[in-house]
Amino acid sequence: MSKTTSSDSQLPFSKKFLWGASVSTHQVEGNNHNQWTVWELENAAQLARSAKDRYGELEVWGEIKGEATRPGNYVSGKAAEHYRRYRDDFKLAKQLNLNAIRSGIEWSRVEPKEGQFNERALEHYRQYFTEMKQQGIEPVLTLWHWTMPEWFADKGGFLKRANTKYFTRYVQYVMENIGVNFTYVITINEPTIYSAFSYYYKRWPPQHASLIDSYFVLKNLARAHKTAYKLIKSHQPKARVGLAHNCAYVYTDDDSWISSLSVRIAHYIGNKWFINQVKKQQDFLGLNYYLGHRIKGVRSANTNDKPLNDLGWRMEPELLGKLAEQLHSEYGLPILVTETGVADKNDTHRKWWIQNNLSSLTLAQKRGAQILGYIHWSLLDNFEWAEGFWPRFGLIEVDYKTQRHTIRSSAKWYADVIKHSRDHA
Ligand code: BGC
Repeated sequence: MSKTTSSDSQLPFSKKFLWGASVSTHQVEGNNHNQWTVWELENAAQLARSAKDRYGELEVWGEIKGEATRPGNYVSGKAAEHYRRYRDDFKLAKQLNLNAIRSGIEWSRVEPKEGQFNERALEHYRQYFTEMKQQGIEPVLTLWHWTMPEWFADKGGFLKRANTKYFTRYVQYVMENIGVNFTYVITINEPTIYSAFSYYYKRWPPQHASLIDSYFVLKNLARAHKTAYKLIKSHQPKARVGLAHNCAYVYTDDDSWISSLSVRIAHYIGNKWFINQVKKQQDFLGLNYYLGHRIKGVRSANTNDKPLNDLGWRMEPELLGKLAEQLHSEYGLPILVTETGVADKNDTHRKWWIQNNLSSLTLAQKRGAQILGYIHWSLLDNFEWAEGFWPRFGLIEVDYKTQRHTIRSSAKWYADVIKHSRDHA
C-alpha cells in the first residue's frame, strides 16, 4: 500500500466488492397507494398527539418537537420524490463512488387491482433499473419491503397461507416482464421485524397483538420466499437470490453458563430460526444490522453505556463484523450487508458508524468470512414508517420543503474510503 490514510483499517476489499446504499420504494418514492398509506391517514393525528410520550426523553426532542408533533410528519405523501427524481439520485450515488443500490419494485403500483397488472408501472421499473445499470450501478432488487396493495391486505395479507399464491403471481409477472437481468434479488425484507411489529407489538398495520398470528405470518413469508426463489431462478438462473434478514448481535460480558445459554437461545430465536426455514433457498445471506443485544443471566442488559442515535438506539457499529463472521461460520453462505445505518440528523455519528462497520468487516473477512458488499441504509433521508420523516438516515439529505437532495459530509468521507479501497484492491 503506497499511502497511509485513516481508511487503511477498512482495506482491502476486492474489486468486485459492492459499495452501496439502500432505499425502499414506499420510504422514498412518493405518491404511493398501499395498505400503509391508508393506515398513515387514519393514524397521523393520533401519532402526532402522542409524539411526546414516545420521543420526549430523546436527546433530540428539542430539535424534532416541531416536526414530530405535526400530523404531516406521519403521512408519506411526496416523500423524497425518488419515483421521478431517480436519475438525479443515481448521479449523486455515482458522485459517492457507489457501485450498487438496493432498491425495489412497489407491488401496489404494479398490481393495483387484484389480477390487473399495470404495464406502465412495470415499464417505469424497467427504465429505472436500466438507467441504474447504464450509470454503472449494480441493482440489488427487492421484491417486497412491507407494503402491499390494499386488496391483498383486505384478503388478510400474509396471515393467510392461501394468500401466498398472490405474491407468487406478482413475482411471476415481474420476472416474465421486467426485461432486466439481475445479479442479486431479495425476495422479502426483514420477515421477523415485519411480523413482530405488525402482528405482535401492534405498532404497524394491521396492528394485531397475537404471538400466534406473528408466527403464522413468518411461516407464510418463508413459504412465499421458497416459491419465489424457484420462480426467480427459473427466469434468471444466474441471479443470486436471498432475503434481507434483520439480526442483532447477541452477547454477554460475563462468563456464567446461564448468560451463555441465554445468548444461544436469543440468537437462535431472533436470528437463526427464520434462516433455518429457508436455508436451502439462499444463495447469499442478506444481513440488516442495527443493534447489539447484551444479555446478563436471563435478562437483557442493554444499559445506556453506549452512545445513542437520534431514535435512542444504542450504537455498536463494531458488532457488525462479529455478526457477519458468526453467521458465515454457521451457514457457510456469503454475506451481503443489505442494510446498516444510523438516525443522525446532525451527521455527527454517521462517519464513525461507517468507519467501525468497515473495520469490523475487514477483520471478519481476514478471519475467513466471505463478504460480498456493504450497502448502507440509506441512500436518501426517508419515511421511517410509524416514526415518519423526522429520523434522518440518509447519506443524502432531503429538504422536504424544496426537494433539494444534498450530499452529507459523512457521505463525502465514505466516497473517499470507497475510492481509496478501489485504488488499492
Ligand atoms: C428497515 C428499513 C428501516 C430501517 C431503519 C430496517 O429495519 O428495513 O425500512 O428504515 O430499518 O429503521
